Amino acid sequence: MSKKRVAVLISGRGSNLQALLDAEQDAYEIVLVISNVPSAAGLERARAAGVEAIALDHKPYGKNREAFERDLDALLVQRNVELVALAGFMRVLTPFFVNAWKGRLVNIHPSLLPKFPGVNTHARAIEAGETEHGCTVHLVVEEVDSGEILGQATMPILPGDTPETLADRVLTLEHELYPRCLAALARAL
Ligand code: GRF
Repeated sequence: MSKKRVAVLISGRGSNLQALLDAEQDAYEIVLVISNVPSAAGLERARAAGVEAIALDHKPYGKNREAFERDLDALLVQRNVELVALAGFMRVLTPFFVNAWKGRLVNIHPSLLPKFPGVNTHARAIEAGETEHGCTVHLVVEEVDSGEILGQATMPILPGDTPETLADRVLTLEHELYPRCLAALARAL
């Protein structure tokens, strides 16, 4: 079975990208990393791993999200990308992009979905009195953070936990969960 050609979309530090790069890439191969933020540290991580890294700044597109996504899509198609992984990509995608990559577009979210879609998940989990927390890998659909769940990792919330301590521990789980789920999806496609 040939490895699936994967692009990772980022906006920032790229620790999940690093985990995807460091994992044994036997089912997938990361061939391209694109950031909508030109200063994203994750671009350097990609280059250090010998992977093509492109900054596609969304700002010149103004409010025209779809025009940005059409250029993004063109880059992916040019490189024969088969699977797209969002890893801290901080742009909500329009139906154009989501439908173009339906079933081949995944995201990692720092909560046990369907609990706490959106932002500030760790603080909201504490405020809600949750005893468990974690992360979710899911297919991307038009509604944010609500596609089919491919995998979850769970951990207890401990007395004295803060949003920061939770963020640290959830991130460790993310780094283990994402490569596993991406590989499983790559094998299934
Ligand atoms: C992660 O917590 C991820 O779940 C969320 O954004 C964060 C990205 O971190 N979507 P990094 O850029 O992968 O370090």
